[in-house]
Amino acid sequence: MHKGLTIESTTLWDFPTQNYGDKPHGDNKYRGVTPAFIIWNLIQRYTKEGDLVVDPMCGSGTTIDVCKEENRRVLGFDIVPYRADIKQADARSLPLDNGVADFVFVDSPYSDNIKYNDHPDNIGNISCENSRFFDELEKVAKEIQRILKPRKYMAWLIADQAKKKKFVPVGFNLYSILEKYFKPVDTICVTRHNQTSNTPIWHERARKYNFYLRGFKYLIIMQKVAIPLSKR
Ligand SMILES: C[S@@+](CC[C@H](N)C(=O)[O-])C[C@H]1O[C@@H](n2cnc3c(N)ncnc32)[C@H](O)[C@@H]1O
Repeated sequence: MHKGLTIESTTLWDFPTQNYGDKPHGDNKYRGVTPAFIIWNLIQRYTKEGDLVVDPMCGSGTTIDVCKEENRRVLGFDIVPYRADIKQADARSLPLDNGVADFVFVDSPYSDNIKYNDHPDNIGNISCENSRFFDELEKVAKEIQRILKPRKYMAWLIADQAKKKKFVPVGFNLYSILEKYFKPVDTICVTRHNQTSNTPIWHERARKYNFYLRGFKYLIIMQKVAIPLSKR
């Protein structure tokens, strides 16, 4: 276990930086990179050494780096791989057999707010204001359910969107989709840091024009049940 890190005991996680230790985990220059502490915390609780962790939307590879250091086996996929150890695949159709993963972590696009790439199958090119965005996330959820072993866990990081005064509760919408496939375990709020709107001008605008800047992301943790919920 990495020195100096503690397993979070509450549902409010606040990590000051993206990385820990002296080696990079993922690339903190990659827009949308996941704080490495989140993955570290999750694998301490839900996996043991030698277990297989899968990240179907692996981005700059944070999950791979954390898992390797913690002696977990890991497979990272992305629609456009950022590095050689990430395999090209669509998160809605992974090249894996049923029930092989001990844990799945996914930090998906939240909308079309970040331009990851121009690939036609990049879900991050669809706005969350379009219901198709949630249809595509549902396909990812089904695929995660398929590749997980029964009774094993998954965690999904997501945030809401408020754009031009239109609020979309992306986290709640995703939660109700996930409930169709998994048993809820808990929901964590992760404090957001270093976002581009975290400037005095944006804070002043938020007060003046009566809107809120995003302060947190949801980390939704769920478990695959032995018998599918639809067959009970
Ligand atoms: C928030 S980023 C992931 C960040 C990553 N966890 C990291 O730490 O760098 C979301 C990723 O989803 C990928 N993505 C979008 N649509 C996809 C799809 N259909 N299949 C697989 N990956 C997809 C994007 O290319 C992007 O890298």
